[in-house]
Amino acid sequence: MVEWKDFQPDELLIWFDSLIPSTGKGLDLGSGSGKNSLYLASKGLNVQAVDISRKALNLLKEQAQMLGLKVWTFRQDMYQFPIEENKYDVILCLWSLMFLEPIKIQEFSRRLIDGLSPGGLLFCSVFTTQDPSYFSAERMLKRVSERLFESKDQRYLYFFAPGELESYFKDLQIIFYAEGHSLDFKHSLSHRHGWAQLLARKG
Ligand SMILES: C[S@@+](CC[C@H](N)C(=O)[O-])C[C@H]1O[C@@H](n2cnc3c(N)ncnc32)[C@H](O)[C@@H]1O
Repeated sequence: MVEWKDFQPDELLIWFDSLIPSTGKGLDLGSGSGKNSLYLASKGLNVQAVDISRKALNLLKEQAQMLGLKVWTFRQDMYQFPIEENKYDVILCLWSLMFLEPIKIQEFSRRLIDGLSPGGLLFCSVFTTQDPSYFSAERMLKRVSERLFESKDQRYLYFFAPGELESYFKDLQIIFYAEGHSLDFKHSLSHRHGWAQLLARKG
C-alpha cells in the first residue's frame, strides 16, 4: 500500500509550502520518479513531468495511478522540451540542472524565467564544487572542462561554482538562496552533499 509518507517531497517544497498555489500549471524538469510532481498534483496543480529516464517515468505513472493523481509525463531531454512562455505557475528544476552542459545552462535558465507566468515560482537546486563527489569525480571521471565531467549514466555532470546558480536568475525576485552542506540519510549510507538551492518569483 502506497502512502504519502513514501513521497516526501524535496525539502525546499516543504519549507515554502505555503507559497505554492493550489491551482495552475506546474512543470517538473528532470522529475525522476516524480515525488515532487506528485506533490504539486496533490495540491491541485496540473503538472507536466519531463525526464530522460523511461524507468523513472514508469514509476511516476504507477505511483500517480496508485494515488489517484494525474501527471502528464514526457520522456525527453529537458533541454529539448518546448517551454511555453508565461505558462507555468511553478517550475521545478531540482537536482537536474547539473546534468546539462554548462554551455546550455545560461540559455536554459533564460527559458525557465520566460516560462514562468507573472508571479510564478521557480524552485531549483544543484550540487556545487563543495560536494564531496566533486573531488571523487576528479579522480574517477573523465574531465571535460574545469567543473564538467563525463558521467556514465547522465552523460554530463557539472558542479556549480559558489554564487553561480543565483547569477542566472538575477531577473527574478529571489525569495531564498542558500549554499551549504548537509548529511543525506535518504538513500544508501549517510553521506554529505554540498549544494545551492534557490526559490525565486517572477515579478
Ligand atoms: C538526481 S535525479 C533528481 C530527480 C528529482 N528532480 C528529485 O529531486 O528527486 C536527476 C534526474 O534528472 C534526470 N535527467 C538528467 N539529465 C536529464 C536531461 N537532460 N533531461 C531530462 N532529465 C534528465 C535523470 O534521469 C534523473 O531522473
